Amino acid sequence: MAGGRIIGWGTALPEKVLTNADLSTMMDTSDEWITERTGIKRRHIGGSTASLSVASARRAIAMAGIDPASIDGLVLSTTTPDRTVPATSATVQNELGLRCGAFDVNAACSGFVYAYVIAQGLLAIGAKRLLVIGTDTLSRITDWSDRGTAILFADGSGACVVDATPDAGQLLGWDLDADGSLEHLLYAEVGGYIHMDGKEVFRRAVRIMVDSAKKSLAKAGLSVDDVKLCVPHQANLRIIDAACRNLGIPLERTAIVLHETGNTSSASIPLALFDAADRGRLQNGDIVLLVGFGAGMTAASAVLEWRNP
Ligand code: COA
Repeated sequence: MAGGRIIGWGTALPEKVLTNADLSTMMDTSDEWITERTGIKRRHIGGSTASLSVASARRAIAMAGIDPASIDGLVLSTTTPDRTVPATSATVQNELGLRCGAFDVNAACSGFVYAYVIAQGLLAIGAKRLLVIGTDTLSRITDWSDRGTAILFADGSGACVVDATPDAGQLLGWDLDADGSLEHLLYAEVGGYIHMDGKEVFRRAVRIMVDSAKKSLAKAGLSVDDVKLCVPHQANLRIIDAACRNLGIPLERTAIVLHETGNTSSASIPLALFDAADRGRLQNGDIVLLVGFGAGMTAASAVLEWRNP
C-alpha cells in the first residue's frame, strides 16, 4: 500500500498582534496571570479561514516546488469555516487555482491530525499528491469580554503537501478518538461564542492526550524513548507540561510556539511542527509524535518518521 511523505510546508499568522498587556486593558486580567496559568504571551488575530489557508498553502506549494495543478486532493481542517455552505476548502481550492476534490474536516483542535490521517488513507487508495491544511480563526467566535476564554484563543494556519510514496511512507502509527458525551465542556452554537469549562477540559485533556499518544506509539511498535520530538496541541503550557511529564518526554524534546500563537486549534500542531522543522530541529529518521485534543472531546495522535524534503 502506498504511504505519504511531506515534501513542503508553510505557515501563516495574521499581522495584528494582541499581547497580554493589550488584553489587560480590555478585561480584568494581567500579563502575569496569563503567563503563569497558560504560558501564552501574545497571539495573532485577524483574517479569514480561507485567506490564512491560501497564504500557508502558497508557501507549502512554493517550498515543494510543484505545479499546483498536480495536486489531486485538498483536505482543510477547520472548526471556524468562513460560511456554513460551501466548505471553506472550496474557496481555498479556487483561490489556489486547484482542480481537485476539496473538503473540510472538523474535529476541533485534533483536526489537523485527523486530516493528516485521512490524507494518508486517500494516498493508500490511489491519490498521488495532497494538500493538507489546518486553519482556524477562533477570534471570530471568542467572546472578548470573557476572560476565561479570550486569553487563550487566536488565529493561524499551517499547510503541507503530501506525496504518495511506493513504500509505507512517514506515518508509522495513528489514533483517532472522540467522546461526544463530553460536548458540553467546550462548545459554540452556530453564530455564537465559545463556552468552556476550563478546569474540566484541563483535567481531561492531559489524560486523553497521554492515552492517545500511547496508542499510536504502540501501533508503531515504538516507545517514548524513541520520540525525538513531541508536537502537542498548543492549548496551555501547563497541559503540555503535565502530559509530557506523564508520558516521560522532557520539555526539551517538545515543540512549543504557544507563547507566540495562543491556541489556534487546527493550526496549532502544524505551526509547532513546521516551526521546529524550520529551525533545523528535525533530521532524517527522527521519530515525531503529534498529539492533540479538543472539543467533542476529540483526541488524535500520529507517529511520523521525519524525512527532510
Ligand atoms: N485573569 C485573571 N484571573 C482569572 C482569569 C484571567 N484571565 N481567569 C480566571 N481567573 C481567576 C478565577 O476567577 C479564579 O479566581 P478565584 O480563585 O478568586 O475564584 C482564579 O483566577 C483561578 O481560576 P481557575 O479557573 O481555577 O484557573 P485555572 O488555573 O484553571 O486556569 C484556564 C484557567 C482557562 C487557563 C485553564 O483552566 C485552562 O487552560 N483550561 C483548559 C482550557 C483549554 O485548553 N481549552 C481548549 C481546549 S482545545
